[in-house]
Amino acid sequence: MREVKISLVGYGVVGHGVVEVVGRKRKLMRDLGLDLKIVSITDHTGTVISPDGIAPEKVIGEKTLQNVKNSDASSKDIIRSVNSDLVVEVTPTNIVHGQPGLGHMEEALSCGKHVVTSNKGPLVVAYSRLKKLADEKGVMLKFEATVGGTMPLISLIERTLVGNKILGVRGVFNGTCNYILTRMAEEKYPYSFALNEAQELGYAEADPTYDVEGVDTAGKVVILANSVFNMDVKYSDVQVRGITEITPEALILAHKRGYAIKLIGEVPALTVKPMLVPLGSPLAVGSTLNAAAIYTDLSETITVTGLGAGRIETASAILSDIVSIYRTKQIDAIF
Ligand code: HSE
Repeated sequence: MREVKISLVGYGVVGHGVVEVVGRKRKLMRDLGLDLKIVSITDHTGTVISPDGIAPEKVIGEKTLQNVKNSDASSKDIIRSVNSDLVVEVTPTNIVHGQPGLGHMEEALSCGKHVVTSNKGPLVVAYSRLKKLADEKGVMLKFEATVGGTMPLISLIERTLVGNKILGVRGVFNGTCNYILTRMAEEKYPYSFALNEAQELGYAEADPTYDVEGVDTAGKVVILANSVFNMDVKYSDVQVRGITEITPEALILAHKRGYAIKLIGEVPALTVKPMLVPLGSPLAVGSTLNAAAIYTDLSETITVTGLGAGRIETASAILSDIVSIYRTKQIDAIF
């Protein structure tokens, strides 16, 4: 049995999901040969540390760690000093400067700890630097949850489609925009009403202009460009147009003619813009779903769809990344 000691940094919606999912899947993980232990959890109020693993029931009902913390050390000190193999970084995202997640990831990788994250900001700002640091230290940086949430995309390309040349990826990468566009087209909801609903579902960014102006999608395009396509691009290299100018009339007219209007991100074109998508197309997904078409040389087009956000769904992608690190290490050991 391989013991994997995890430091969780960030205890918001996704952090709660990680604690719940690691607890729920403990037996299955043990059957796979992994004994996953969350040995520290940090949020803005402090840290809980337990070298034998933190029982989920100790923290799951707590909105913050204020009442259960046993350390006030800084998050970087915790990352460095707690005896852990892997850091799950799920603090709030900032795609302008990447902090605080960027500092956390640099600290973890520098200490020779693997990093698994759903935090887009640090990868948008500094993917190349982080990947180089991980390679130098012989550890892994995994970020499936940053693009499309639980929808398998990066791992699908890296593993299942290995050997294919990836010619392009085009998709619906923002659940909030997709929800708004779907409600406006199908229920004839006004824009502001649909946006309020999307916010209530808990999908929207803290500042929903990031969603509706295409910023979130553009961040995902940058992550895909730099990781899957080995490009070296910045946010400012992406041409971005959001959905704020789409009228209900345009959506209804498009629908009558057999089309949906979707906010589409494209790599390597580096564009984000509303586009007409035939209603029968696999990209014409409704509600909060995400979808991605992967264009390849050997396998033609592969299309995937799934939930792009959500507490448990995002934690599922994080769990999958954790397992894949140790499976890859087993394969490395064989060779
Ligand atoms: N605000 C994002 C969305 C969350 O609506 O898709 C997932 O990145």
